[in-house]
Amino acid sequence: MAADSKGQFGIYVHWPFCLAKCPYCDFNSHVARAQIDEARFRQAYAREIAHMAGLSNGRKVTSVFFGGGTPSLMSAALVGDILHRISQHWGIAEGAEITLEANPTSVEAKRFAGYRAAGVNRLSVGIQALNDADLKALGRMHDVDEALDAFKLAQQTFARVSFDLIYARPHQSVEQWRKELAQALKYADGHMSLYQLTIEPKTAFFDLYARGKLTIPDDDLAIALYDVTQELTEAAGLNNYEISNHAGSNAQSQHNLTYWRYHDYVGIGPGAHGRLTIDGTKVATACEMNPENWWQKVMVDGEGMITNEKLDAQEMADEFLVMGLRLAQGISLQLYHSFAPSPLNADTIEFLKQQGLVEILANGNLRATASGFLVLDAVVADLAAEVI
Ligand SMILES: C[S@@+](CC[C@H](N)C(=O)[O-])C[C@H]1O[C@@H](n2cnc3c(N)ncnc32)[C@H](O)[C@@H]1O
Ligand code: SF4
Repeated sequence: MAADSKGQFGIYVHWPFCLAKCPYCDFNSHVARAQIDEARFRQAYAREIAHMAGLSNGRKVTSVFFGGGTPSLMSAALVGDILHRISQHWGIAEGAEITLEANPTSVEAKRFAGYRAAGVNRLSVGIQALNDADLKALGRMHDVDEALDAFKLAQQTFARVSFDLIYARPHQSVEQWRKELAQALKYADGHMSLYQLTIEPKTAFFDLYARGKLTIPDDDLAIALYDVTQELTEAAGLNNYEISNHAGSNAQSQHNLTYWRYHDYVGIGPGAHGRLTIDGTKVATACEMNPENWWQKVMVDGEGMITNEKLDAQEMADEFLVMGLRLAQGISLQLYHSFAPSPLNADTIEFLKQQGLVEILANGNLRATASGFLVLDAVVADLAAEVI
């Protein structure tokens, strides 16, 4: 496949610990019973970085993303140590984007200056709601005032920040969301991640929902909330460059674009995934999820991978489609046809066009329309299924 041994190259570092488990979250996050022994984890991150660098020699890193879990519980010294090792092994390109996800409690805000000194230049701040009752219902450890204070400090400390919210929350009306988003847009500075709440299996919200004790917006209300989101963000000059992400010019997340453009990235840490082109073939990697088991495996094997699989041409084509259609710029059909075993079915594309779900842009790219974004999984399934 043409993509990708030369394009963007990201490193994702997963920190798997949180102070508490939010009832909607199915990410690989664990509440530690005791104080985390950072020195012990530092050793394991260092070993896994060295191993992964051996698989991808000669690449320069264009972005690093500390995700979680709650990476703002890491000390600045550990973040700095990891960045130093990444730089030693691969080299970090001039102007690379280095993001850290932060929860906006006042305790975590005290670490912001240390993160900047360690090399972080972009903070993604998980505000989630601008309403104290909803923050409580979401299990968050901060209130609105604390979150906004942390966000203002983030703006003063970092060149780039993202304001992250969850909407389509239990009992949320269109008018409430309109007011809340308008307020958020007064603070937001170039980038917003606006996620519709999804009820994920094996979460506390899933159990409540299954027992009829949690009411979330029905499809019509969810569409109306989405429409308000588009209306207000566009009016504020933030383009919906990806299904849940909005940015002003030059403020898009380069690291996340690496995923969506199906370029290579390395996954470091418990549960981290990666996609690496090795000898012309994309390899899918995934690390052991349980932090302690990951640590043990890294100490024995030098890496914590439980998946390390070459993808065949059809699997790569499917992933390219799934990721690329999340973007407003869509996918290059020419690029798709250059490596996919069979081209996309022209009749299916025409049918989806007639339905107003996809369109072909002047540059030949195929992309989902605003209506298509609302049913993206179904659009992708139709396109992926209907190969000649
Ligand atoms: C897993 S969190 C990690 C960062 C940080 N711990 C936080 O809570 O903001 C990353 C993003 O995923 C979002 N997220 C997690 N579960 C979600 C769900 N079920 N529906 C919508 N967004 C979700 C969070 O709100 C957050 O913005
Ligand atoms: S949403 Fe963030 S803080 Fe809450 S459990 Fe998930 S990773 Fe942890």
